[in-house]
Amino acid sequence: MSLSIIFARSMNHCIGKNGKIPWHLPDEFGHFKRTTLGKPIIMGRKTYEDHQSALPGRRNIVISRQVDYQTVAGIELQPSLDAAIASARSTSDEVFVIGGVHFFVEAFQIADCVYETVIEAQIDGEAILPAFDFSDWSSEIIERHDADDKHAYAYHILKHVRS
Ligand SMILES: NC(=O)c1ccc[n+]([C@@H]2O[C@H](COP(=O)([O-])OP(=O)(O)OC[C@H]3O[C@@H](n4cnc5c(N)ncnc54)[C@H](OP(=O)(O)O)[C@@H]3O)[C@@H](O)[C@H]2O)c1
Repeated sequence: MSLSIIFARSMNHCIGKNGKIPWHLPDEFGHFKRTTLGKPIIMGRKTYEDHQSALPGRRNIVISRQVDYQTVAGIELQPSLDAAIASARSTSDEVFVIGGVHFFVEAFQIADCVYETVIEAQIDGEAILPAFDFSDWSSEIIERHDADDKHAYAYHILKHVRS
């Protein structure tokens, strides 16, 4: 099984504001959907609460310490990243961690692949990722997108594979 991480961050490493993603970039969301479709996705409880639904076509696994946490149908609850990965790996050869900050940092230590979208703007928000060190990884830009009438910001997408 391989472990992948997928996230979008601004130039100042912001990924979220007030519990939401602070931009609306439909084609970037299309990349997220295409990349994760058919694969288990693992997320923290607050990332789940951003959308409060099961993302279709994927096994949705939510991590919370609350044993009695109530979710909508189609969500599997797990108490830790290790438990979530152990459960997910039984049904797929690739498993995605999709947020938030704590789980990106924890999963980065053991990830095989990282999909990183860089939003080419400075954006305010309290959910901030550290700058990951990809110097021992093979990195390539797999997509560039200009700003347009549906996309307020330009962005590019990097794929990093652990060497
Ligand atoms: N731009 C992006 O790519 C992207 C991706 C994902 C999310 N986001 C944004 O990021 C923000 C949410 O991320 P976040 O970092 O604040 O929260 P989060 O990681 O999604 O969720 C945090 C919750 O996870 C549980 N948790 C944390 N550590 C745990 C551990 N060691 N063991 C078990 N459970 C643990 C706790 O839930 P309980 O309190 O229930 O125990 C904790 O409150 C939102 O703004 C969202 O929109 C952005």
